[in-house]
Amino acid sequence: MDGIKLVNVGKIYTVEKEQVKVLDGIDLNLPANKITVILGRSGCGKTTLLRLVAGLETFEQGEIEANDVKRKAYVFQEDRLMPWLTVRKNITFGLKDKVINHQKIDEIIEMVGLEKFHSAYPRQLSGGMKQRASIARAFAYDPDFIMMDEPFSALDFFTREQMQKELLNIHQKTRCSILFVTHSIDEALMLGDKIVVLEKGIIKSEYEIEEKNHERDLLDNKFLNLKKQIMNDLKVI
Ligand SMILES: Nc1ncnc2c1ncn2[C@@H]1O[C@H](COP(=O)(O)OP(=O)(O)O)[C@@H](O)[C@H]1O
Ligand SMILES: [Mg+2]
Repeated sequence: MDGIKLVNVGKIYTVEKEQVKVLDGIDLNLPANKITVILGRSGCGKTTLLRLVAGLETFEQGEIEANDVKRKAYVFQEDRLMPWLTVRKNITFGLKDKVINHQKIDEIIEMVGLEKFHSAYPRQLSGGMKQRASIARAFAYDPDFIMMDEPFSALDFFTREQMQKELLNIHQKTRCSILFVTHSIDEALMLGDKIVVLEKGIIKSEYEIEEKNHERDLLDNKFLNLKKQIMNDLKVI
């Protein structure tokens, strides 16, 4: 698989007869098997970009080439589980009965650490566990590409750090392609093979991170320097 390529993509919303350009001239490669992070402040166009790539939104300008990508899955900011279904039923809900491979579903449930809770209902789960179930649901669909829109931003600091590590472990195992949106610089530094800084609908900068250890030390000078650079790009220093 080659990944997804955006060429000169632009998106306009019309609000009260006024046209607002939300994305402008986006040229971007989303490489296969990697984690690409879109980073930017609230309102800069991150969700719009994700929705365009997911095919959930039309756009006026440019092209998105995703010829080899057959199956895309989407993880939302909120967990969107169905309260009347167990964890397992939530995970298999969108799948046709005939295609459910129960052994594979067991493996996915184990991968996200919910094996003891497969028959629990969402109200019996913590926020982190609900997000794990949402991630499992995305993987059960057997996607080529997973889009995640700030999936950990409702979690407390410790749970969030743990979820980031778990996502990296899952990525190591599956080598799936991920497009991950966040407004947290640290989260971007922790997860991204590639970090794309978005500002007011325009790509401000891009960074590729080569790192052998998949658990990164953000206090290492390399990451501190990169953080300063990104803070500078985002004008927070
Ligand atoms: N359906 C819509 N109609 C009109 N404007 C929208 C719509 N969705 C988003 N916007 C506007 O587009 C801009 C980018 O929004 P969004 O992509 O949600 O940003 P982010 O996810 O980075 O916070 C914002 O100014 C927002 O108000
Ligand atoms: Mg958003």
